[in-house]
Amino acid sequence: REIYCFDEVDSTNIIAKELAEDDASEGTVVIAKTQTRGRGRRGKKWISPRGGIWMSIILRPEIPPAKAPHLTLVTGVAVAKTLKREFGLDVGIKWPNDILIGDKKVCGILTEAHARFNTIEYIVVGIGIDTNVDVDLFPEEFREGATSLKRELGVDVDSVDLIRKLLVEFEKVYEDFKRGRFPEILNEWRRFSKTIGSYVEIRKQLGEIVRGEAVGVNSEGALILELDNGKLRKIVSGECIHLG
Ligand code: BTN
Repeated sequence: REIYCFDEVDSTNIIAKELAEDDASEGTVVIAKTQTRGRGRRGKKWISPRGGIWMSIILRPEIPPAKAPHLTLVTGVAVAKTLKREFGLDVGIKWPNDILIGDKKVCGILTEAHARFNTIEYIVVGIGIDTNVDVDLFPEEFREGATSLKRELGVDVDSVDLIRKLLVEFEKVYEDFKRGRFPEILNEWRRFSKTIGSYVEIRKQLGEIVRGEAVGVNSEGALILELDNGKLRKIVSGECIHLG
């Protein structure tokens, strides 16, 4: 399998997409020391200074496009397991895919699926981890709620070693996923979840805001909220804020 390493790119997800269009095989990885146009979910910018891990993986699973979002949860479980095992930190997951230490975000995942004629051609899973970065230097809007491994541990992390361990763990969980073990992976996700049991606010794409207690995730990974009027509501996408 090929691993492409760059000093600086616009976005590893963009490079991975170009490689995938050029028939790069499943498992191809793109890593960069810094990104000039790192992208987050919902069209947000992703601050990517030197010292962090910015990488993308090309996947070609034989699944219907509707199941592509499962890969986000699969990746979240692989990252959370690795960080917990390697550093013994209080690692959690905020629905759908923010990896937290305590209540602060240390890693984000951006999954981009490319389908044609209702089949997946390839999926790019982008993983951004604030390893040895100083979040105090982030612009204010990005600083709040963010942390880094260096800050939590008080020492620098060996990024190359961590990338290696992450890829090994990712491959394991991904192989399980391809063998149809998504229900078991989802159970692991549930154990890491800091969202289930919290009172949350969901900001939907069109500005709609929904509040309620997160009571679980269903078999598709959608969040189930119990609204203040006692009714249940299924949320498939949106930004999630933990209120209590
Ligand atoms: C989020 O908003 O939480 C997702 C952030 C994803 C960032 C990673 S860094 C590597 C890859 N390249 C990008 O431009 N974004 C993802």
